[in-house]
Amino acid sequence: MDYLPIFLNLKNEPCLIVGGGQVAARKAEILQHAGGQVSVLAPDFHDALLKLGESGSMTLLSKRFHSQDVCGFKLIVAATDDIDLNAHVAEAAKTHNIPVNVVDQPALCTFIFPAIIDRSPIIAAVSSGGASPVLARILRMRIESLIPPAYGRLAKIAAKFRTRVKQAIKESHVRRKFWENVLSGTVAELVFAGREEQAAEHLDQLIRAESQEKDGLRLGMVYLVGAGPGDPDLLTIRALRLMQEADVVVYDRLVSPEILQLVRRDAEKIYAGKQRNQHTLPQAQINRLLADLAKSGKRVLRLKGGDPFIFGRGGEEIETLMTEGVLFQVIPGITAASGCAAYAGIPLTHRDYAQSCMFLTGHMKDGRLIDIDWNQLSRPGQTLVFYMGLQGLEEICSRLIQHGCPADLPAALVQQGTTQHQLVLTGTLKTLPQTVNSSDVKAPTLLIIGNVVKLREKFAWFRPHGDA
Ligand SMILES: C[S@@+](CC[C@H](N)C(=O)[O-])C[C@H]1O[C@@H](n2cnc3c(N)ncnc32)[C@H](O)[C@@H]1O
Repeated sequence: MDYLPIFLNLKNEPCLIVGGGQVAARKAEILQHAGGQVSVLAPDFHDALLKLGESGSMTLLSKRFHSQDVCGFKLIVAATDDIDLNAHVAEAAKTHNIPVNVVDQPALCTFIFPAIIDRSPIIAAVSSGGASPVLARILRMRIESLIPPAYGRLAKIAAKFRTRVKQAIKESHVRRKFWENVLSGTVAELVFAGREEQAAEHLDQLIRAESQEKDGLRLGMVYLVGAGPGDPDLLTIRALRLMQEADVVVYDRLVSPEILQLVRRDAEKIYAGKQRNQHTLPQAQINRLLADLAKSGKRVLRLKGGDPFIFGRGGEEIETLMTEGVLFQVIPGITAASGCAAYAGIPLTHRDYAQSCMFLTGHMKDGRLIDIDWNQLSRPGQTLVFYMGLQGLEEICSRLIQHGCPADLPAALVQQGTTQHQLVLTGTLKTLPQTVNSSDVKAPTLLIIGNVVKLREKFAWFRPHGDA
């Protein structure tokens, strides 16, 4: 280990930055953020520093550097573009045993600035020891995406309850296990979902149960998560985190195997998939199952294709959970319409072609499409997106023509959009049904109708592997 990472308390401590440019301004901000009393010394100052000086939040010393200037400071940064001057500052600081950082000259430093992930009071620091600050920054960005922004709030709740937990749970190994459960379980998820009061209430209950040595009080929760249209790269950061935390996953047919692989390996997996006219588990049974699993203390991941609130029956599932008093959260996913349109190069709205867009279901009952206002759909200047529209494709196209849409209105059918099996068939209201009939189309498919479909000729960008 070339450097020892330590966290310095700079609150109200005098810090000196030598240099008046942009780099000096950035360092000044960091030190100020950590509570330091910052002075900046240079003959001239960058505007950003002048502003900070005017606001009175830092002192500007307009002069040339002299060795004695370091006296009385607890930390020094040399941030000038003059190599000799930087070396001079470093030497003066070292003479007085003051920690010094010289920007971009690790050999002259006694300390270096890490890349910082700030979830105060939680702080993580990444350093490459001066070898490659860019690499450290890339790593920092990766870590940023793994740590929910609300981690700081979680740490504050933990701090608030720390003494009580210590009094209630005497044995340190039991206490550690308790905190591990709390900080990676439902209490943490409630904090991340912005429900801090509820989180505190539940933490309170857990402490009571633990101090009365009652076993088995585990808080379950249902995560209703949208898995997007297929490409695993389109998962949200929160979806991915919850997939790795769940004890059990209840998933649909539309969730691709690649996405399922990202779920925690030892999580129990329950298939609730639905196929047209063949519901593997009836909806009421799925609702019941989710509630029962959560009530038994499990973290239940309800993983659905696309977005749970768009033709996903998410509303029905949470209605049961609400009635049963089960905790839940809903994590949106990229719906098939956005995913397929983006990967097919078809903007759903465009100033010249469509000012509105409608999401519809082409679901059929007894061989007929249900509840569709064809007059409304036939108006110009809009895009129609039909989910589950393959069966009814012919009827959709002919009804639209009957209600006044031009027969040459462009239309596209996107098969398995965003995946490596994506196939886009294009035509018009008149020709598309025939084109589709003579192709070997595989579900799921999405139908997009409107003049925006023309833009695919220009905008198609996604090429699945193996596509010529
Ligand atoms: C029951 S709906 C669920 C929609 C989902 N909740 C969403 O927001 O995308 C299923 C229909 O979504 C459409 N769909 C979902 N994923 C798709 C994909 N990758 N490519 C094409 N269509 C898709 C198909 O029309 C499919 O029949």
